Amino acid sequence: SRVAVLMGGPSAEREVSLSSGRECAKALRSEGFEVVEIDAGPDLAARLAEAQPDVVFNALHGRWGEDGCVQGLLEWLHLPYTHSGVLASALAMDKQRSKEVYRAAGLPVVDSVIATAAEVRQRHVLPPPYVVKPNNEGSSVGVYLIDAENNGPPQLSDDMPEEVMVEAFAPGRELTTTVMGAGENDPGALAVTDILTTGWYDYDAKYKEGGSRHVVPADIPQEIADACLDYALRAHVALGCRGVSRTDFRWDEGRGLAGLILLETNTQPGMTPTSLVPEQAAHQGIDFGRLCAWMVEDASC
Ligand code: DAL
Ligand code: MG
Repeated sequence: SRVAVLMGGPSAEREVSLSSGRECAKALRSEGFEVVEIDAGPDLAARLAEAQPDVVFNALHGRWGEDGCVQGLLEWLHLPYTHSGVLASALAMDKQRSKEVYRAAGLPVVDSVIATAAEVRQRHVLPPPYVVKPNNEGSSVGVYLIDAENNGPPQLSDDMPEEVMVEAFAPGRELTTTVMGAGENDPGALAVTDILTTGWYDYDAKYKEGGSRHVVPADIPQEIADACLDYALRAHVALGCRGVSRTDFRWDEGRGLAGLILLETNTQPGMTPTSLVPEQAAHQGIDFGRLCAWMVEDASC
């Protein structure tokens, strides 16, 4: 069948998406699919009408592609697409509102507030240490860590959005778990990866070759690994996600299970050469081509 791979787009994660999209397009071709690659711009609807795909593979990240907008267009066009639908995408992308869903599902999150960038520049909105981030971006774009009182409030750059999320800092190890569907015959939660970095797991650590080291399965107590798998699946279900999602955690190991915090669920997780989802799938014996093909088979609208 014919698959249109959507990539690029106008978000801050454009380059990441181009990388994800190219990898997936290549893999789908080798799985025997006919592939059309589309850099998602204002003419997207026309490009789709021209390409006439059977399925749309959404390899977009960030605003417009991960927040329900493109999903709405694809619903409108009656084109089956990969990953989550409109509501789950919009909810997961809103870091503050998604926490209400996690809390209602009994999942552990840290406190946070929405504030204006102006307010955040003026005073400590929360007692340090805290983190400031755009409420709806990914890949650690525009993330600030304020670790000490005496450094004063953060000098946020001018391109930060008007409203930002200020979140209590959750210390500890960086863990992540992929979910591949939550149905009876789906693989479900795949594995736990421990992400080792020398500094912060920021944009460079995420995408530069050798920027971080990934240990899968994570060398952590069984109780913590089981909790990650359980929480990731419950977050996926609570948000109403479809297909593949990836949930990120921090684990403050000195505090045992109480030190495990759910940071967020990504409904369009990275599929780049340094990304985590393909590694976890491979750990379960699902190679990259099979993973992409599964997503196409799982697509709906
Ligand atoms: N936002 C990036 C693509 C991720 O979560 O993998
Ligand atoms: Mg993210």
